[in-house]
Amino acid sequence: MSKNTLVALVVVVVVALGIGYWLNNRSAQETAQPRVTGVLKVGSDVTYPPFEFVDEKTNEFKGFDIDLINAIGEVMGKKIEIVNTAWDGIIPGLLNGNYDALISAMTITEERAQAVDFSDPYFATGQVIVLRADNTSIRTPKDLEGKVVAVQIGTTGDFEASKVKGVKKIARFNTTPEALQEVLNGAADAAVVDELVAREFIKKNPGAVKLAEVGVFTVEYYGIAVRKGDDELRKEINRALATVKASGKYDEIYNKWFGTETTAAKSE
Ligand code: ARG
Repeated sequence: MSKNTLVALVVVVVVALGIGYWLNNRSAQETAQPRVTGVLKVGSDVTYPPFEFVDEKTNEFKGFDIDLINAIGEVMGKKIEIVNTAWDGIIPGLLNGNYDALISAMTITEERAQAVDFSDPYFATGQVIVLRADNTSIRTPKDLEGKVVAVQIGTTGDFEASKVKGVKKIARFNTTPEALQEVLNGAADAAVVDELVAREFIKKNPGAVKLAEVGVFTVEYYGIAVRKGDDELRKEINRALATVKASGKYDEIYNKWFGTETTAAKSE
């Protein structure tokens, strides 16, 4: 065998091995489902059980929204990174680029839709009034007249309480648990909050607090927010949300967190 033939043979073998390796690697990538092509940073005020909260034992973020956004990320082929953010400032943080989307049990409102774009609704709910169990004087929002009402600042609960005429004081807190605690303490007569967060609080404090007779008195839908004009991401999220609903994954997550106890209707 001439030296040239030997060199040619070595080249052929090396190239063949290279192609084999490449083919093998490529098929491995293609079969690894789904392919993760990046990270999606998502802002959330993680003080809102059962939608988003920190598991005290593991320090992990947990809740309905966390499971939902992870399921959406899985369909999109993106790893979800939750950025824990104070509610007051969660929209500025999105506009500022601290994250590219936010999921935080955020009600789609006309005012917010001036600043951000929302996904299709993913949850239907509304406001309730939380009272100490022995309170018989507050049945409907208008009974809040002359009372001290606790809310989380800048929430739809805050907006609803602010609409009632003659409220003695609206005590605004950075988080909803703080507002609910005021009712338990006796420092506030009532709190106006989202239905399922109230129900979770009542479950944790049996016999101490209850819902006012009126029940759910607003109609609200939660949406995932993106920056205005970020249509590509918004559509991608909508497609993934539709897939998560169609596959039964949405129902699985819903049942995990809410079972059948709730009066809130799932969004269609
Ligand atoms: N749904 C209410 C709103 O949009 C309250 C949401 C508060 N969310 C939270 N993670 N703290 O105003």
